[in-house]
Amino acid sequence: MPTAAQLDLLNTLKQAIGAAHVLTEGDLTAYEQDWRKRTRGQALAVVRPGNTQEVAAVVKACAQARVSIVPQGGNTGLVVGGIPDDSGTQVLLSLQRMNAVRAVDGDNLTITVEAGCVLQNLQQAAEKAGFLFPLSLGSEGSCTIGGNLSTNAGGTQVVRYGNTRELCLGLEVVTAQGDILHGLSGLRKDNTGYDLRNLMVGSEGTLGIITAATMKLYPLPAAKLTAWAAVPSVEHAVRLLGLAHKHLGAGLTGFEMMGQFALSLVDKHYPQLRVPLWQQTPYCVLLENSDTESETHARERFEHLLEIAFEDGCVTDAVVAESLSQARNLWHIRESITMAQAEEGLNIKHDISLSVSAIPTFVAETDAMLKREIEGVRLVNFGHLGDGNLHYNVQAPEGSDNQAFLKTQEDRVNTLVYDAVKRFGGSISAEHGVGSLKVDTLPDYKDPTALAVMRQIKQALDPKGTLNPGRVVR
Ligand code: FAD
Ligand code: MLT
Ligand code: ZN
Repeated sequence: MPTAAQLDLLNTLKQAIGAAHVLTEGDLTAYEQDWRKRTRGQALAVVRPGNTQEVAAVVKACAQARVSIVPQGGNTGLVVGGIPDDSGTQVLLSLQRMNAVRAVDGDNLTITVEAGCVLQNLQQAAEKAGFLFPLSLGSEGSCTIGGNLSTNAGGTQVVRYGNTRELCLGLEVVTAQGDILHGLSGLRKDNTGYDLRNLMVGSEGTLGIITAATMKLYPLPAAKLTAWAAVPSVEHAVRLLGLAHKHLGAGLTGFEMMGQFALSLVDKHYPQLRVPLWQQTPYCVLLENSDTESETHARERFEHLLEIAFEDGCVTDAVVAESLSQARNLWHIRESITMAQAEEGLNIKHDISLSVSAIPTFVAETDAMLKREIEGVRLVNFGHLGDGNLHYNVQAPEGSDNQAFLKTQEDRVNTLVYDAVKRFGGSISAEHGVGSLKVDTLPDYKDPTALAVMRQIKQALDPKGTLNPGRVVR
C-alpha cells in the first residue's frame, strides 16, 4: 500500500499530466522488466508525459517529494539502466508519448525530434526528406533517440559516422530541479563555455532527462554495396580492415566481424536465414561500401578491394550482395546473433573496446585462458571490429544448466575478461553503458580520478540524487 506522501505525489502527478497517463495498475511488465528478462523491478507508478512542460512538472513534483525517477525510452538497454529497482518507490518516466519530429532543416542538414521518437521512425523521416540519418542498431524498431543519446549508442555505422554523440548538435533537457535547458541550436560551432550537451550524452539518465534533440543529417548515398567475406583469423580480419580503409576511404560505412560459433547459433535457431560461408572458416566479415557516385562505381571499388584481399590471403572466399534484399538479408543475419544467443539460453555478455591493433593478441590469449579455466566453455565473439568493439560473450558448456552456470561462473568470467581488457588498455563498456549491471565493477577498471570527477559532477547537477540513482556511479 502506498504511504500518504506517495498518494499525495500520485495525485499531483495526475493533475500535472492527466490521470490516464499515470499507471499504477495492470500489467506493467514492459516497463519493469529489462530486455534480457534477467531483472524485474517494481515502480510506484509509470508516468507518460506528453510534452516537455509535463516532464518538468513531473520532475519538480518528484524532487519536492524526494522520490527518484528512472527515465525510459524503448527499454532495449542491455545494462539494466532503464527499469525501476524493486522497492516500489521509484517513478518510471516513459518518454514514449513524446515521439514527434519537430523540424527538418535541409540547408542546415539537421533534424529536430522528441526523445521518444523510435530510431527507425527517425531514419524514415530523414529519408522521406531526402537525407540519411546514419545511426543503425539491431534494436532500431524499438529503441528511441533519447535512449540512444543517453547511452551514446554505437551500432553498425560508427566506422564512418561516429557514435550517437557525434551525430548530435543540440539537446533540450529537463534538469534534476525540473528546469528546462533549451539547447536545440543546431549550431556546428559554439564555444561559449562547458559542453553541457556532451555531458548529457552518455549520462544514462543520471544528470538530466533529454526531451528533444537536434541531430545531423547526411546526403543519401547513391549506392550501397555489401559483401560477406570468409577470413582465416582475427589477424586477417584486421588486415582486411586496413585494406578497406585504404581502398574505400570514406566509402567504408560498416565493418563487422563474426566468429564461427556465433554464426552457428544463427544457423541453428534461424536456418531460414541461410548463413553463408560459416562452416568453412573461423571468422566472417560483413563489409559495407557506400558510394556518392553510382552503383557501378561502388561495385568496381569493392571488387578491386576484394581482388587485393584475395591476393593478400586475408580473404579466402566472399559473396557480394547482388540486390538490396540480399544485402538486407546479410545484415539481418548479423543482427540476429543477439536473438540467437538468447534462444540458446542465458549467457554472459561483454561489450569491450580495445585498440584495433591489440585485438588479435587479446582474442588469442583470452580464448585460450577461458578454455583452460572452464571446460567446454563456448565463446560467442562478434562485433564492430571497425571500431575496435567486440561483443566477447560467454555461453555455458553445451547441455549444462545455464542458470547454474551464471550463478557460479559469471563473476569469475567477468573478472578474467575485464582483467585481460585492462592489461590491453581497453574499456569494459564500449557502447552499451554502465547501468546497474556494471556500476560496482567500474571502480576496479576506471581511472580513480576520472571516477571522483564523475561523482562531483553528479553531486553538482543532482544533489538530492533523485535521477536514476544507483546507475553509472553510486
Ligand atoms: P532504454 O533502454 O529505455 O534506456 C537506456 C538508458 O537510457 C537508461 O539508463 C535510461 O534511464 C536512459 N534513458 C532513456 N531515455 C532517456 C531520456 N530521454 N533521457 C534521459 N535518460 C534516458 N546498443 C548499441 O550501442 N549498439 C548496438 O549495436 C546495439 N544493438 C542492440 C541490439 C539489440 C537486439 C538490443 C536488444 C539492444 C541493442 N543495443 C545496442 C542496446 C540498446 O538498444 C541501446 O542501448 C539503445 O540506445 C537504448 O535505447 P532505448 O530507447 O531502448 O533506451
Ligand atoms: C550488437 O552489436 O548486436 C549489440 O550491441 C547487441 C549485443 O551485444 O548483443
Ligand atoms: Zn554492438
